[in-house]
Amino acid sequence: MGGSARGGGECPTSPPHLFTTHAVTGARPYLAFSAHRSVRAAEALDLAGWFGLDPVSERPLPVDRPGLVLTGAGPTLRVPGHRPMTWHPGMTAWRLASPETDPLLRALALRPGERVLDGTLGFGHDALVLRAAGAVVIGVERSPLLALLTFLAHGERPLGPPLQLRLGRVEDVLADLPTGAVEHVYLDPRFPDAAGRRSFTLAPMRALCPEAPFEESWLRLAVRVARRRVVVKLAPLEVPRTLDGVVPAIVRSTRVRFAVYRARDSA
Ligand SMILES: C[S@@+](CC[C@H](N)C(=O)[O-])C[C@H]1O[C@@H](n2cnc3c(N)ncnc32)[C@H](O)[C@@H]1O
Repeated sequence: MGGSARGGGECPTSPPHLFTTHAVTGARPYLAFSAHRSVRAAEALDLAGWFGLDPVSERPLPVDRPGLVLTGAGPTLRVPGHRPMTWHPGMTAWRLASPETDPLLRALALRPGERVLDGTLGFGHDALVLRAAGAVVIGVERSPLLALLTFLAHGERPLGPPLQLRLGRVEDVLADLPTGAVEHVYLDPRFPDAAGRRSFTLAPMRALCPEAPFEESWLRLAVRVARRRVVVKLAPLEVPRTLDGVVPAIVRSTRVRFAVYRARDSA
């Protein structure tokens, strides 16, 4: 995990109060660290405070609730009933190698330096591609464990501007932002794999953050906050929503489809 557990981006300034208890047991997710490893205890305690996690420095690890374990080799996510998992770049390396064909960058028609609010940050794979293309990414994530895992992974990757993180629900973050606050809003609220089947590797994530229904209200808020485009990743076979009777444009590759809504000053 390198010298600093904080990574390279901006940290949230107040502890979150969303998804900070385990859905089944009601217990607080934990952040485990060992003073003998390369992660300094003071930094781990800071992170636990910012992300609303229960700091754990003793073994054995809790088995009844999810948590993140900081080790010298990087953070490991532990969700009861699932295999421990670490952050993995997935298809990101391949996408970074050929940005000119990346369908998300095409859907946004992204210009370097533009601000993109990634309202469903998840693993931050899309956010990495956006940062590498020069975007200032504000990632919103409601699961503190996932937010921290992704925040640390991004801190290790000096690609373009650092990730800015907001913990919370995208609908609340959008509602609080002024009109035209960013150039783009990007939403990817679902977890199916490319073929539309349920993926085993994403099972712990689904256990942590059950799939949220994608609300039309999100779209309305997003179109108000974005100056240029709102892009929504579509699930396989999903029919894109119309907005005020307008059918969105579709940008696709062989693997994914995006619905593109033009916002206020669109270009
Ligand atoms: C499919 S994943 C996003 C994957 C991401 N695009 C990537 O490249 O890694 C969806 C994420 O959205 C988050 N999420 C779902 N509903 C949310 C909401 N209302 N506010 C904020 N985050 C939300 C989930 O916790 C999950 O991490």
